[in-house]
Amino acid sequence: MSKKKNTVWICQSCGAKAFKWAGYCSSCGEWNTIVEEVIRSEDSPRGISAPAGTDVRPVAVGHVSFTEAPRFSSGSAELDRVLGGGIVPGSFVLVGGDPGIGKSTLLTQLAGRVAESKGPVLYVSAEESPQQVRIRAERLGAVADSFMLVSEADMELIDEYMKALQPEVLIVDSIQTVYKPDIPSAPGSVVQVRECAAQLLRMAKNSKTAVFIVGHVTKEGAIAGPRILEHMVDTVLYFDGERHTQYRIIQAVKNRFGALEIGVYEMGDNGLKDVPNASELFLSERPIGASGSVIVPVIEGTRPILVEVQALVSSTSYQNARRTTNGIDVNRLQLLIAVLEKRVGLPMGGNDAFVKATGGVKIDEPAVDLGLAVALASSYCDCPVDPYTVIIGEVGLAGEVRAVTQLEQRIKEAAKMGFKKAIVPASACKNNIDPGFTLVGVGTLIEALHAAGIGGRKKQH
Ligand code: TYD
Ligand code: MG
Repeated sequence: MSKKKNTVWICQSCGAKAFKWAGYCSSCGEWNTIVEEVIRSEDSPRGISAPAGTDVRPVAVGHVSFTEAPRFSSGSAELDRVLGGGIVPGSFVLVGGDPGIGKSTLLTQLAGRVAESKGPVLYVSAEESPQQVRIRAERLGAVADSFMLVSEADMELIDEYMKALQPEVLIVDSIQTVYKPDIPSAPGSVVQVRECAAQLLRMAKNSKTAVFIVGHVTKEGAIAGPRILEHMVDTVLYFDGERHTQYRIIQAVKNRFGALEIGVYEMGDNGLKDVPNASELFLSERPIGASGSVIVPVIEGTRPILVEVQALVSSTSYQNARRTTNGIDVNRLQLLIAVLEKRVGLPMGGNDAFVKATGGVKIDEPAVDLGLAVALASSYCDCPVDPYTVIIGEVGLAGEVRAVTQLEQRIKEAAKMGFKKAIVPASACKNNIDPGFTLVGVGTLIEALHAAGIGGRKKQH
């Protein structure tokens, strides 16, 4: 089993084959010419080829004939948006996430709704028995006549069922448990995952069936299996959230058919429910009047969402102060602490700092800098920021506040959610869109702290 079947040793000089690597070719007598080559199996991943019998010569891009099949709804407005506007026929989508986060729930709901509104769906459950899937489908109200179910892990049989049924959507739960019988390695191994995905890719592209595959996530957060999986699929969706809360976030990290959006769900007794107003959800439990809490409008895909950024700064009892983040890059925190020390004069070095973006969102844009820096200073000075003010801006190393993209959209979302004031980069101050809303332009971090009403002195207890 351990013997590699798909590689061979070949002399680059004379082309002679060898059984194993050697420094010297016994056929031609050359040194250091023997290399390992991978023999391409029939099913190795290799892009998409035209079907046999069609004209394959290059043509001008404008002359490529196509009939675009219209997208169809997954039955969930949130998932439709994350997919870039509905399910694209023939697309290949990978859904990743921790065990128990709700991947099977999401796809069972999708199967039920698509089967009812569009046509047959084939759900291949290689992990659970048909009884288990049925119980879940009953619970979710997803039982439909053309929602077809099979517990099978053999790719050859899955291919046959697929040809017989010609479904609109094929769901494979999960890619780590299916296997090709002609490959000796175990299901879930790199070779199996790659070869099965390659076969599913061809099935999707040749049949116009949209294929959704579930992928487990390793402890490090990567989708288990080869990286090539992420390159092969059209769309990669990560299902995220804290399992002990009811909120789940589905995030597109790659999408050939649209912007990288997020969708927000609430997990209840009857499955996942769309949360159309994410800002309201993220702000619903915020502590009014607590220091270290700042609201920042972030852009997720094309949508502005208000997120609460929390900071807690307290004197450390360790030799090295701790810096911990949740949903925010730790390097961003380190940098802002350094800027607060050097440019504002807040001696934060001997303090632990913990920061968190609430609601389980991951913020990865510089527009959060100013809000985060103010939250840190607010916690350090124990001085709360006005709860109806949002803070937007990038912070430079000199302590200057820099412009950010899509400011108007961010401000509109804040005004819509009942906020009254925004602290923004000075260069953007002219864009006021609402007379009932105050824009305060700031050029430096110090000005921003003044505008937020935060003094420079630590409160004494
Ligand atoms: P599941 O979809 O099986 O997760 P995954 O496929 O990602 O491993 O979801 C499992 C969790 O969801 C489990 O803890 C039970 C919970 N759940 C609900 O809270 N409500 C429901 O209606 C369903 C079907 C599951
Ligand atoms: Mg599952």
